[in-house]
Amino acid sequence: MKNPKKIKAQCSVNRGNEFPGLSRRGFVTGLGLSAVGVGLIRSTLALAGHGDPKVEFIETSCGQENKDAIKILVGYASCCGSTGGIAEAIGRQLCAAGARVDVKLLTDVDDPSVYDGLVVGSAIQEGEWLPEAVKFVAKHEKLMAQKKVAYFVSCLALSKITAHNQKIAEAYVHSIVPKAPAVQPLAQTAFAGAVFFEKMPKKYVPVMKLIAKKDGDYRNWEAIRAWADGLAPAMIKKG
Ligand SMILES: Cc1cc2nc3c(=O)[nH]c(=O)nc-3n(C[C@H](O)[C@H](O)[C@H](O)COP(=O)(O)O)c2cc1C
Repeated sequence: MKNPKKIKAQCSVNRGNEFPGLSRRGFVTGLGLSAVGVGLIRSTLALAGHGDPKVEFIETSCGQENKDAIKILVGYASCCGSTGGIAEAIGRQLCAAGARVDVKLLTDVDDPSVYDGLVVGSAIQEGEWLPEAVKFVAKHEKLMAQKKVAYFVSCLALSKITAHNQKIAEAYVHSIVPKAPAVQPLAQTAFAGAVFFEKMPKKYVPVMKLIAKKDGDYRNWEAIRAWADGLAPAMIKKG
């Protein structure tokens, strides 16, 4: 990608302490933590304080020289930066297939109507898409219903591939659909994400150390590129 621009921003996600039981329990047990762990998490979060680290969020563009090419947004919501890497990898593949692509945080997208297609993704927290992603999709439902759309999420449930975890991850992706029922995505998928303790709001660290035990980057670049390659023909088809 040409001229990749990386910006630094404050990790601003603050979801409060409520954890919707089922989805979070699914995530926790999927990673092998016991019900005792679930109780521990609730109280750890309740006691946790603030102190957010600076996080790098990727924003980049490519294919701008192809003035007649289809214009695609790969917009994402992220707390700790790793979903940006997934968005960038998707963007690269779409560019290679002939599109003009902007990879951006959803909160930095001024006018989504300038795009022919939108690939919208989010990190999963507490079983849900991040609020800014939900807000974006709900706000632009009418517009997105007229465009080519694809959804993706990044989550830790898929750090270990089992049928149970795949079901959980599938539910994560699909949970965006009722927020904008008029939108008919061409494709939707879940990718394994990454967890870096030093990049997340301090209040999450004890919890995530319990769940994930150690830092890890589970992003499967081959799977990400393959998904984007599969999506590209439908996405860049004119009309
Ligand atoms: C507070 C918090 C809650 C999370 N909850 C879930 C969850 O319910 N299910 C899951 O699969 N992953 C969960 N994760 C893992 C993230 O979805 C995963 O690490 C993702 O790749 C992070 O993306 P980001 O670096 O762009 O924020 C959680 C991570 C954090 C920090």
